[in-house]
Amino acid sequence: MGDTAKFIVEGKEVESPILKGSVGPDVIDIRKLYAQTGAFTYDPGFTSTASCESALTYIDGDEGVLLHRGYPIGQLAENSSFMEVCYLLLNGELPSAAELDGFTRTITRHTMVHEQLSSFFKGFRRDAHPMAIMVGVVGALSAFYHDSTDISDPVQRRISAHRLIAKIPTIAAMAYKYSVGQPFVYPDNKLSYAGNFLRMTFGVPAEEYEVVPAVEKAMDRIFILHADHEQNASTSTVRLAGSSGANPFACVAAGIACLWGPAHGGANEACLNMLREIGTPDKIPHYIERAKDKNDPFRLMGFGHRVYKNRDPRATVMQKTVREVFDALNVQDPLFETALRLEEIALNDPYFIEKKLFPNVDFYSGIILSAIGFPTTMFTVLFALARTVGWVAQWNEMIEDPSQKIGRPRQLYTGPTQRDYVPVGQR
Ligand code: ACO
Repeated sequence: MGDTAKFIVEGKEVESPILKGSVGPDVIDIRKLYAQTGAFTYDPGFTSTASCESALTYIDGDEGVLLHRGYPIGQLAENSSFMEVCYLLLNGELPSAAELDGFTRTITRHTMVHEQLSSFFKGFRRDAHPMAIMVGVVGALSAFYHDSTDISDPVQRRISAHRLIAKIPTIAAMAYKYSVGQPFVYPDNKLSYAGNFLRMTFGVPAEEYEVVPAVEKAMDRIFILHADHEQNASTSTVRLAGSSGANPFACVAAGIACLWGPAHGGANEACLNMLREIGTPDKIPHYIERAKDKNDPFRLMGFGHRVYKNRDPRATVMQKTVREVFDALNVQDPLFETALRLEEIALNDPYFIEKKLFPNVDFYSGIILSAIGFPTTMFTVLFALARTVGWVAQWNEMIEDPSQKIGRPRQLYTGPTQRDYVPVGQR
């Protein structure tokens, strides 16, 4: 590709610059196209459109690559910690030991929520879906932490980012506790981010809660795997909400609402249900045939991805983590054997090979979360918890971008053209 792209619109030729990123496809800059030609571009679902410039996360879906600030997800999941990944996403570089220590301390000291927020929970029905509670309570944070909603002040933006990352596990655990009718458990600052969350979720005041190190590590790794994923639907929602100048708590609540949808955050729940339905490995061929049948709506959940046309690098780490959690908890879930066999059979089937359908991050995550003790309704909440850092980092990057404008797409209008109003008696 040269440095410009040519468009011929109704005989008029115009040139648009081609922008180059550090890696990945070139981008045709069409910002002046409407002014030059009077035409819009049309791309519902953004399949060919870059909505922003970003230096956070890079995905090469054909090669199965996911990098945060340049670092491969496999290396981060193996060697890093969620706190370190949060620092990396927010600040652009890995922290020194002192910086990591300071950041972890800051996050730990922000884990408590305003006591009045506890009363807010009581307005929900006990059987409310925890994601419904998350949307409401996270949005309500802007009412409780008004002092950090001045988005033009970088210091306040940093404080609100820290508050969101620190308080989201407390709120997620409270949403769970409320649904099972148990008392809220206050954070314990002696524990790690993941350990604290496990204790707030599964601990009860009557007993000392022992954090199992392997489960704590697995939880931390699951958070790392979900921390950011470029301009996905919920992140784009956060950016769009933020483009009007809305405060970060309101924007993250919008992201949570988008994540709730089954095409986005809800797939691991669907995958676990599918594995339960399949049950034993001998039933797999029947379900593989169903997945391949064009007249059957059944799909192999946890397989395929809009961007990855190769193995989702997060799925590889997830599969390894299942074994670690099972060993630590001495669990023998036959669903894991079914999942392994299903993966093997599907990956050798010409249908899945041709269509480049590989296991995605959701294929194994439900099995792990269920073994740890989470009900399926909490799966998407855990995703939201981990993705909060990605949302705030992307939101902050957008606010700092001098070319940022309010997000205002246009449309291909197909409704009636102008007509005159007819009084009701004459219709
Ligand atoms: N099982 C069987 N066939 C499939 C599957 C599947 N899981 N996924 C895609 N296909 C087939 C489609 O039928 C289609 O076939 P065709 O070309 O003959 O019509 C072809 O592969 C392409 O599929 P599309 O749906 O067009 O691909 P798209 O990129 O739009 O969809 C999606 C990606 C939604 C993830 C899809 O693969 C799917 O439904 N997978 C199952 C749900 C799932 O696991 N979602 C989690 C995604 S990861 C995440 O959100 C964190």
